[in-house]
Amino acid sequence: MERENRMSLLEQLVVQAHTDFAAATDAAALENAKAKYLGKTGQITEQMKGLGKLDPDQRKLQGAVINAAKEQIEAALIARRDALADAQMQARLNAEAIDVTLPGRGRSVGGIHPVMRTWERVEQIFASIGFDVADGPEIETDWTNFTALNSPENHPARSMQDTFYIDGADNEGKPLLLRTHTSPMQVRYARMHAPPIKVIAPGRTYRVDSDATHSPMFHQVEGLWIAEDISFADLKGVYLAFVKAFFETDDLQVRFRPSYFPFTEPSAEIDIAFGSGPLKGRWLEVSGAGQVHPTVVRNMGLDPEKYIGFAFGSGLERLTMLRYGINDLRLFYEGDLRFLKQFN
Ligand code: FA5
Ligand code: MG
Repeated sequence: MERENRMSLLEQLVVQAHTDFAAATDAAALENAKAKYLGKTGQITEQMKGLGKLDPDQRKLQGAVINAAKEQIEAALIARRDALADAQMQARLNAEAIDVTLPGRGRSVGGIHPVMRTWERVEQIFASIGFDVADGPEIETDWTNFTALNSPENHPARSMQDTFYIDGADNEGKPLLLRTHTSPMQVRYARMHAPPIKVIAPGRTYRVDSDATHSPMFHQVEGLWIAEDISFADLKGVYLAFVKAFFETDDLQVRFRPSYFPFTEPSAEIDIAFGSGPLKGRWLEVSGAGQVHPTVVRNMGLDPEKYIGFAFGSGLERLTMLRYGINDLRLFYEGDLRFLKQFN
């Protein structure tokens, strides 16, 4: 009789444990529920303790019954733990779900900077009329940037205000500098190639300059044609052919304005009028140019009695401003995508 009662008590405990575990909605609640049955003073533990009072035969029998109940409760506990862990994982998956059916946000497409676009066009056009394309260093020596170009030692362009000098010196002890124009390429290239020389050298140049038409870093393209019979008239012909191709129109206002450069004689600045934009009709200087000075021809290692030619140095930003009707060159370097995207 007594035994049957105990069995039913154990059965009740198993049923109750199932109910309690099911009611626990998180891990902490489940551990509390577990303590009620399997903890130090839990009901199953108490049942075990009671075994000591029984005689050996009964103890064996009753022990097996209690153990069976304990195993059932432990199994229920593990099942509930797994279920709670699954539910937690499911909740997390739902919270972090990625809706693969949403439309894509789109991948932004890179574009070519308007000044680089000009650079590419300039190379294409000059290549099409027989010019080679050369590349030179941005860190220059005093000799190539100034002296070889017949710029006197005390020329203001050498001053600390105009030129970025850098630490270090060349092997004559003269300071190194960021080239202030692409003209050093005239002498560098001519000393490595035999005439006829027909080359452009586009690249970055640097000056302590900053306003709507001047940037401290800007781009020039140098042009040089040296042979036995190249005159100032050829400069005009080549340059006009270039700007007509570049701007894709013959309807251009271009003027050669007399000027001075130590490395050309005669010299000119080339201005072009804006055809569109807020500065329509206003002149913008795009280039310096001239017939290469005999001293420079000599510094190229050539005989100025035999060789003659022209050179020009044009601003790529200025050409870009004219092409798109842009009135402030600084826009190119502010990195504002609203501006830059218009060119792609
Ligand atoms: C020169 O730099 C000469 N080396 C050009 C030259 C080459 C003359 C060969 C004769 C023979 P200039 O300082 O004018 O010249 O500059 C040439 C062009 O570079 C200017 O017309 C302008 O288009 C551009 N430029 C000059 N400084 C800047 C600047 N800070 N920002 C943007 N463009 C500039
Ligand atoms: Mg100038």
